[in-house]
Amino acid sequence: MSRTKIAIAGALGRMGNNLINSALSNNNVELIGVFDVKDIDPSFINKNQIQENVFTTREESFEKADIVIDFTTPKALFNFTEAAVSNNTGLDESHFNLLKQTSNSTKVFYAPNMSYGVNTFFEIARKASKHLKDFDIEIIETHHRHKKDAPSGTALKLGEEIVAELGLSKSNFNFKRQDQEGQRKENEIGFSSIRGGNIPGEHTVIFHGDNESVELTHKAHNRKIFSDGAIQAAVWLSTKEKGFYTFKDMIS
Ligand SMILES: NC(=O)c1ccc[n+]([C@@H]2O[C@H](COP(=O)([O-])OP(=O)(O)OC[C@H]3O[C@@H](n4cnc5c(N)ncnc54)[C@H](O)[C@@H]3O)[C@@H](O)[C@H]2O)c1
Repeated sequence: MSRTKIAIAGALGRMGNNLINSALSNNNVELIGVFDVKDIDPSFINKNQIQENVFTTREESFEKADIVIDFTTPKALFNFTEAAVSNNTGLDESHFNLLKQTSNSTKVFYAPNMSYGVNTFFEIARKASKHLKDFDIEIIETHHRHKKDAPSGTALKLGEEIVAELGLSKSNFNFKRQDQEGQRKENEIGFSSIRGGNIPGEHTVIFHGDNESVELTHKAHNRKIFSDGAIQAAVWLSTKEKGFYTFKDMIS
């Protein structure tokens, strides 16, 4: 099998850095492009032991790569034209519309969390909510101090999986309990966010009953789980026809 040619958008960022390491240690991919909104200088290429002839502009990377892996910001999405694995969180309706529109002409993979463990956790939380129907559900997430969006895309996805299972909708989400008076509403799913340190990501779903509680937690120990997952997604996506794909499509 020939190696999938990948380029990394956001190469200078926290995830970009992890992705370079994951790409260079994976025989199924060839890293042919690294770019960022800031210039990539030769010392960065040398320090990371990337091949010297790597492309460092957005245009060349999109032109030459089979798949571009994007860990940047939601805004950068508006520059997408070609096959991509999109990992950004904090997307709104307009971003999802754009991803779907792009997938009419090329292949697009989106996952707010690229970890296999987290995607299994979604399934487990869904099953638990089916069994614990009358319990009050709360979602708590903790991330490093630099994270810009809250709640995390993973926490939102957890909530979406649970409301889908329970026949509820996103209108049951409560992000602002501090601003509200009165007791907890029936079927409400509350979200809480904690920020600090260098924590790559922790998510807990709590099911509170009258006399007992159940808690499910996933803890990311480092960012390698996201970068390895993104590489796996790029290789998988390279074999697909145009369309919009998610992690569920890859593991099902
Ligand atoms: N899906 C997942 O598994 C997963 C895991 C971790 C982080 N994330 C998401 O990935 C994104 C990046 O996270 P991070 O911690 O690496 O952030 P970061 O701020 O450390 O890095 C982002 C990088 O993108 C660059 N950038 C910004 N706009 C750009 C553009 N238009 N073109 C090219 N480069 C651009 C920035 O200069 C920066 O170097 C965030 O949205 C975060 O929530 C997703």
